[in-house]
Amino acid sequence: MNDSTSALHPVLLAKDLRKSYRVGSSRLEVLRGVSLALHSGQVAALMGSSGSGKSTLLQLLGLMDHSDSGSILLRGRRIDHRSAGASARIRASEIGFVFQQFQLIHELSALENVLLPRRIARGLSWFSARGEEKRKAKQLLIDVGLGARLRHRPNQLSGGEQQRVAIARALISSPPLLLADEPTGNLDRQTGSEVLQLLLKMARERGAAILLATHDPAIAASCEQQFQLEDGALVTP
Ligand SMILES: Nc1ncnc2c1ncn2[C@@H]1O[C@H](COP(=O)(O)OP(=O)(O)OP(=O)(O)O)[C@@H](O)[C@H]1O
Ligand SMILES: [Mg+2]
Repeated sequence: MNDSTSALHPVLLAKDLRKSYRVGSSRLEVLRGVSLALHSGQVAALMGSSGSGKSTLLQLLGLMDHSDSGSILLRGRRIDHRSAGASARIRASEIGFVFQQFQLIHELSALENVLLPRRIARGLSWFSARGEEKRKAKQLLIDVGLGARLRHRPNQLSGGEQQRVAIARALISSPPLLLADEPTGNLDRQTGSEVLQLLLKMARERGAAILLATHDPAIAASCEQQFQLEDGALVTP
């Protein structure tokens, strides 16, 4: 698909997603038909009480789990229900994901963590970053204020710094879609607010669509659109 065709489609289109978990002999229905569209540059908050299914939905959209039924289209192309390897490559090149627990690789430096999606996107077990990719990763770390921390490992960084590395990692492939699951949930209020502003600023500058799960009404209010998960379906409050 060329760019002019893909521009006609929403960045993300989810149709009637259903997801249940088997627990013992019973089934817990978490998502009972979730549909949503996100357009380029759109910033949307995903709200809902604890256990309502926000992380479940983000994991489906981020191709980390499969739905029971329904479909997910990225720029008009169906991306759900692929193999684990194909899903990982799509995520590495087209979907940035920021987790509550940062999820950095502890053995790798900040710079290597940021470069990891490029390695996965190219499907290489052996990887030597291209010069231009390394420059971009360094620039992203400079942009998130970590120009002096390139060689630090995650355990040598503060929580806020680790999340800023994770933001740089989510943006290294210039993805059209960013998913964030309570990205400030593990940070103190002040640091969380700074990290969130940074995430939104950098995503907006790049025109990415964002879906951001949060419990914080102030954060949700700063997004252009709010979705609420209730009884397994999305409502706009
Ligand atoms: N792997 C699993 N197996 C069984 N049940 C699960 C599994 N993962 C999640 N659940 C259940 O699905 C429901 C939705 O969980 P989910 O983590 O998506 O909620 P959430 O909205 O993200 O909550 P929180 O705000 O606390 O993060 C919960 O009731 C949870 O217990
Ligand atoms: Mg959650």
